Amino acid sequence: MSAGERVLGIETSCDDTSVAVLERGRGLRAHLIASQDLHRLYGGVVPELAARAHLELLPRLVSRALDEAEMKPADLSAVAVTRAPGLVGSLVVGVAFAKAYAYALGIPVVGVNHIEAHLHAASLEHGDAALPAIALVVSGGHTELVEMRGFGQYRWLGSTRDDAVGEAYDKVAKRLGLPFPGGPHVDALAAEGDPARFAFPRPMLDRNDFDFSFSGLKTAVALEAEHLGEPPYERSRIADLCASFQAAVVDTLTGKTMRAVREVSARSLTLGGGVACNRALRARLGAECEAAGIALRIPSPRLCADNAAMVALVGAWTLDAGPVSEDGLEVVASLEETGLIDSRL
Ligand code: KG4
Ligand code: ZN
Repeated sequence: MSAGERVLGIETSCDDTSVAVLERGRGLRAHLIASQDLHRLYGGVVPELAARAHLELLPRLVSRALDEAEMKPADLSAVAVTRAPGLVGSLVVGVAFAKAYAYALGIPVVGVNHIEAHLHAASLEHGDAALPAIALVVSGGHTELVEMRGFGQYRWLGSTRDDAVGEAYDKVAKRLGLPFPGGPHVDALAAEGDPARFAFPRPMLDRNDFDFSFSGLKTAVALEAEHLGEPPYERSRIADLCASFQAAVVDTLTGKTMRAVREVSARSLTLGGGVACNRALRARLGAECEAAGIALRIPSPRLCADNAAMVALVGAWTLDAGPVSEDGLEVVASLEETGLIDSRL
C-alpha cells in the first residue's frame, strides 16, 4: 500500500478539533469536527483552553472516525497534521499526537501548512482547479490572496496588515452585543439592513498592491455604534450598521481579488476559510466570476471552516510528490511559519 492510500488527517490549529480519514479512490471515509463551544463564554478563543480541549477530544475523535470509516489503526498508511500557522499550544497537541500515533503504527507523518490546506479544500468537492488560479483565504486568522500554478507552486500576492477579515467581523459583532463567533450573526443581520445607510471606508482599495487592512473599518463601525448607547440592541437598530460594514468588506475583498484574477489571467477562483461562508461575498464573487467567464470554486460551509479533510488531502498530495522521512521527527509545530512561506513560483 502506498503512503498516500489511507490518510488520517488531524487539524488542531485553533479552536476546532477535527479528524478525517481520506482513502484514495473512495474519497472521505470519515470526517468529524468538534467546535469548542466553551470559548463563547469568553467572547473569543482562549488559547490555553483550546489546547486542553484538543488534548481531551483528539483520542476520542480518532477512534470514532476509524469506526465510521470501518477501519482499524493498522489500515492507515500515513498521518497528516497541521504544523502551522496557528495557536502554538493547539498545534503542539495535534503534532505530538500525530507523531506518537504514526510512530506506534510505523507509518509516515507529514506536516501540513494550514493555509495551503485551505487553498485546496475546494478540490475535495470540485476536483482540480483550472490553472492558473487565484485563491482567497478569509478566516478569523487570515486574509490571504494567492496565485496558484500547481500543487506547491504559489505566489503570495497579499494579506492583511492588521486584523483578519473574520476577526473584524467578530469584533464588530462583539461591539454590537452579538454572540461569538459573530460573522454569521452579522451576515444574517446585514441581509435585513440598508448597505448604503453608512458610508464606511473601503480600506486600501485604491492602492496598487494586494494587501488588506480592516482595523480602521472596524473602528469606523465602533464609532458609529457610540450613537446607539450600550447593547443589547433591537435587531432593526443594528441591521443597517451590519449591512454597511459588510458592503465595505465585500467591495474591498472583491475589488482586490478580481484585480488579481485579471493580472494573472486566472482561469478559476477558489475560496477558503470561515468567511467564505458569507452569503454576500459568495453572491458577489459568483456574479463577478460569471461576468469574467471563470470558474468559482467555493467549498461547502463545513469545508470552508477549519477541518481535517483538507489537511488529509494536502498530506496525501505531499506524499505523492515524494517520500517524507520515515520517523517524522522533523515535523514540528512552527512559530516562524506564519503563512505560505514556502512559495515556489
Ligand atoms: O476558518 P474558520 O472556521 O477558523 C479560523 O478562523 O481559522 O473561520 C472562522 C471565522 C470567524 O471569524 C467567523 O466569524 C467567520 O469565520 N465566519 C463568517 C461567516 N461564517 C463564519 N464571517 C462572515 N460571514 C459568515 N457567514
Ligand atoms: Zn483556518
